[in-house]
Amino acid sequence: MLELLNAALADGYAVPAFCAWNAEIMVTVLSVAADMRAPVILMNGPPEFELLAPQDMGAVAHAVAKRFSVPAALHLDHGSALEHVQQCLAAGYTSVMLDYSARPFADNVAALKQTAQWAHPRGVTVEGEIGHVGQADTVTAEGGGDSTLTTVADAIQYVAETGVDALAVSIGNAHGQYTKLPQLDFQRLAELHAAVKIPLVLHGGSGTPPSDLKRAIGLGIAKVNVATELVTALRQSLETQWQSGQNRWAPLAQAAAAKAVAPVVERWIQSTGAAGRA
Ligand code: 13P
Repeated sequence: MLELLNAALADGYAVPAFCAWNAEIMVTVLSVAADMRAPVILMNGPPEFELLAPQDMGAVAHAVAKRFSVPAALHLDHGSALEHVQQCLAAGYTSVMLDYSARPFADNVAALKQTAQWAHPRGVTVEGEIGHVGQADTVTAEGGGDSTLTTVADAIQYVAETGVDALAVSIGNAHGQYTKLPQLDFQRLAELHAAVKIPLVLHGGSGTPPSDLKRAIGLGIAKVNVATELVTALRQSLETQWQSGQNRWAPLAQAAAAKAVAPVVERWIQSTGAAGRA
């Protein structure tokens, strides 16, 4: 993943990271990315592991990705225990995020340092989070509670002590469906970018206005996480089909719902500037 992020940072775009929780969503993301010649990141984590364990998720992603000639990474998103890191490394994930951002600074540092020690010899990228990106709604299964903004001093110390390759920052962003437009702190982002140099990650991509996104990318955001908009497109498709009595044969409904996710993927590949970069 780091190769993809460094190229994006150097050329002023971001790589979209899409929550991909099963084979059909992976195929949808990869086929849109291949059509648009865009690098992409497939990501999933503990809520998605309820559906498929990391071992199986990794096997499915690798099998599917082989069919598409597009640079793609497979990322553990919001791992919540060191065990998730170990499971995903064994399953062939190419990057791992362990999210200890709600825990004390020293615990976060120690766990991410351990993660980097396991991941780096295998060429696997590590993402950490300092400050905390909370939730904007009660539907999302990611992040948790209220946000704490990332401070420059914490970011410098955290990156130096852990050796993480990419840093998730809290600058007014939140996971889930925004009820009012996010107020991103661009001054803080500029200072973080100047201070730590490594690719920065914007969690809570869904609902971010394209103009804000563009400005954030110009200030060091090289990876943008998107989940809620994909989940919502799928849920709405299933609800519409079943309320109208269409496709009561579940595989057909799921096939139609996976297709409903494609326009969302396309829009994010455009707005991150990733189109045509592969
Ligand atoms: P959204 O669900 O708000 O798009 O956030 C996704 C995310 O940050 C996953 O880590």
